[in-house]
Amino acid sequence: MDTAPLDNILGFLALISYIVTLSPTILRIVFPEVRQTSIPKILLKYRRHIGIFAFFFALAHGFFLVQKRNFDFFDFKTYWIYCQGVATFTIFTILAITSNDWSVKRLKKNWKKLHQLTYWAMFLLIWHIWDKMSGHWTYLTPIGIVAISGITVLFLVRLWIEHQNKQQKMNGKTSELKLPANSIK
Ligand code: HEM
Repeated sequence: MDTAPLDNILGFLALISYIVTLSPTILRIVFPEVRQTSIPKILLKYRRHIGIFAFFFALAHGFFLVQKRNFDFFDFKTYWIYCQGVATFTIFTILAITSNDWSVKRLKKNWKKLHQLTYWAMFLLIWHIWDKMSGHWTYLTPIGIVAISGITVLFLVRLWIEHQNKQQKMNGKTSELKLPANSIK
C-alpha cells in the first residue's frame, strides 16, 4: 500500500465531507434513536458549509491531478477515462452554486429536486475510487471504499424504510376506506 499523495488526500477529504452531508437524514430514518441526541441537528445546521468544503476539496483534488497528469481537454477520451470524477464534480458544482438562500427562494420546489442529484454521486464515487485506485491502493483507499459503500447501503435501507412507511400509510387509508360507514368514529 502506497502513502497517499496530496491530491489523493484532497479527494479523500472531499469524499468524507460529502458523506457527512448525507448522514443527518439517513441517520434519523435508519437509527431513529439518534434523534434523541443533538448529532443530526448539528450536522443539519452545518450541512451547507460542509457541502461547500466538499466542493473545494474536490476542486483542489481535480486541479492537482489535472496538472500532474497533463490532461488533454480537447481529447474526448480524457472525459471518458475520468467520467465518474468529472460527473461527480459537475454535480458538486451545481449543488455548491445553488447552496444559498437566494437559490432556495428562486427555485422553490425545483431546488429540492435539483439537490436530489447528490444521491447519484454516491454510486459514481464507488465506481471512481474502485476504477482509479485498482492495483495501487493507498492507505486511504480501503477507508474511502468502506465509508462510501457503508453510507450507500444505509441510503438504500432508508429508501426501503420510507417505502414501507408509505405502504403502511396507504394500507391504513384503504382499510379506513373499506370499513362500513357507521364504524368510522
Ligand atoms: C474533476 C474530477 C476528478 C478527477 C479528474 C479525479 C481523478 C482522480 C484520479 C486520477 C485518482 C487516482 C489517483 C491515484 O492514482 O493515486 C483519483 C482518486 C480518488 N478520487 Fe478523484 N477525481 C475527480 C473527482 C473526484 C471527486 C469529486 C471526489 C470526491 C468527492 C474524488 C475522490 C477521490 C478519492 C477518494 C480517490 C482515491 C484516493 C486514494 O484512495 O488514495 N475524486 N481521482
